[in-house]
Amino acid sequence: MGLPSIESIELRLSIQIMAFLVALIVTQMAVVEWRRNRNAMYKYLALGFGIMFAQIIMMTVILANSRLVGSPAFQNTVNILDYSLRVASFIYLAAAFTTVKSSFRSRFISSNLVGLIIFAPIAWMFLSLNGTAARQLLVISWVELVFQLWITGLLLHTVLAILNSDVRMKKGLVIATSLLLVRQAIHFLNSYFGPELIPVLSLLEQSLIICYFYVIITTLHKQIIADLVIVDLEKDQVKEKAHQDTIRALINSLEAKDLYTRGHSDRVTEYAMVIGQKLGFDHEELTKLYYGAILHDIGKIGISEEILNNPLSLCRDEFDCMKKHPEIGATIVTSIESLKNIAPSILYHHERYDGSGYPKGLKGKEIPLHSRIIAITDALDAMSSSRTYRDSLTEENAIHELITGAGTQFDPDLVKSFVDALGIKLKEADYKTLDRSA
Ligand SMILES: [Fe+2]
Repeated sequence: MGLPSIESIELRLSIQIMAFLVALIVTQMAVVEWRRNRNAMYKYLALGFGIMFAQIIMMTVILANSRLVGSPAFQNTVNILDYSLRVASFIYLAAAFTTVKSSFRSRFISSNLVGLIIFAPIAWMFLSLNGTAARQLLVISWVELVFQLWITGLLLHTVLAILNSDVRMKKGLVIATSLLLVRQAIHFLNSYFGPELIPVLSLLEQSLIICYFYVIITTLHKQIIADLVIVDLEKDQVKEKAHQDTIRALINSLEAKDLYTRGHSDRVTEYAMVIGQKLGFDHEELTKLYYGAILHDIGKIGISEEILNNPLSLCRDEFDCMKKHPEIGATIVTSIESLKNIAPSILYHHERYDGSGYPKGLKGKEIPLHSRIIAITDALDAMSSSRTYRDSLTEENAIHELITGAGTQFDPDLVKSFVDALGIKLKEADYKTLDRSA
């Protein structure tokens, strides 16, 4: 069984209908994408593919009627219309490809529009002239040759435009346009040697348009997926930014109220990160510790300024009031969905390792790990910073105080890790104290 004849109307119709379906999908995709993000490139693609789609509908109708309507005048009119539509579609495609380079695009469109305006009426005029069949045939051949060369030039021009542009879907568009170029070359061969001589090439020519649309579909699809991913990432960034802004606003409002905590939260957090990294926390765990540390004293927002700013002259009731800040802080973060999970770190940051802390009097490892870390870094920064009611300790003395408190106030293992991570060389006595408390 040989290849089906190229003259087989059924075969040509099947190919044409397949091209029709693929073109319909491409056109719909371009229109949907244009409506979705209003990108100028998709607008031109939608127009270009719409025109190609119209052309394919027309060719399908012609094929279906070719046996019924045999008039050469009808056929010639259709051919000219077909070429005009084809040229217009290339203009729109080229415009789409070069959207990002407006100067190139405007030159490209204007030069080709002028060409279209000049060539189309000439073609129509010659076709309407009365003359011998041979003369008409000659004119048609000449017009066709001009159009073919022009279309080939446009395709080459388009490939160059794509290569020079910075559109992201460059590869797919170059492949697609190259397929059209190959189709054009085959069309030349078929036009001048006749489809009877190379029937396989005729079939290939018709099939290449389907390949072209297929590449465009996959390219557009990849681009749309990539755009969706970018939109999601941008959304995440916006969310993250809003999250950071919320936290910064909370800290700023606390620092505006409590003079002594200015910069304290940031330093406590920096030290906490040192311990977290020393303990090998993963990104998620470090992030959680970060938020717990930076917001550990946020509950002080609920304490009056007189109490906050006079820590040494507090009466018992005032001190009890001050001791409520971990619970207030935990309540505040619990009301923020993305910060809920750090509530325990804040609630227990004033617990002591020996169980004498507040609010619950938890002991040893009952105290959440993050709270034990924050307790150490909070104390270190408080000791290292000067207050109006006392001078700051040197780093060496502050570390010595931490070591002294290891096993009673602080988790001794964590103090040891912290000292190691800071790279501080301790006195022999301090090592012994740490070993004893561990
Ligand atoms: Fe605190």
